Amino acid sequence: MTVKHLRIATVVGALAVAGAVGACGEAKVEDNPANSELVNRGAKLFHDRCSGCHTLSAAAAEGSNTQIHDLERTDGPNFNQRRETVEQVLYAIRNGGFSGAIMPQNIVVGEDAQAVAEFVAKYSGSDAGNDAQ
Ligand code: HEC
Repeated sequence: MTVKHLRIATVVGALAVAGAVGACGEAKVEDNPANSELVNRGAKLFHDRCSGCHTLSAAAAEGSNTQIHDLERTDGPNFNQRRETVEQVLYAIRNGGFSGAIMPQNIVVGEDAQAVAEFVAKYSGSDAGNDAQ
């Protein structure tokens, strides 16, 4: 391992810790061998960065208002119920949701944003009868 690699590993480690602190619960997202590397990466990113406000079982995320006593203003749509396309997710990431009021913009960018979008597009809407693509 070169010094450069070590530095990258440290940064990635620090980001992972920051993400874990922000998300609630200790649930971990396991790689699904049937998925592409991008989708698996998207699952982890979603768990770290989006699960505070959104629910999506495939990412062990329970951020929406699943219980009436912890309704919060920041609760975003539940992606078990709502189906999103890659384009919709990328739009929401860039613009801070569709309304721009609560969701922060650009929580993930570039390839990370693409990974999250592919993951959400694949798994969202499963409770509404949409099979994973
Ligand atoms: C601070 C809370 C918060 C975080 C963190 C957050 N969101 Fe959101 N998000 C919201 C809220 C609230 C809405 C609904 C209002 C709106 O659309 O502006 C929303 C809306 C959305 C929508 C549009 C859904 C629809 O059909 O109306 C998508 C897609 C989305 N978020 C994806 C993500 C992804 C992906 C991440 C992680 C990279 C993320 N969000 C992180 C709060 C959040």
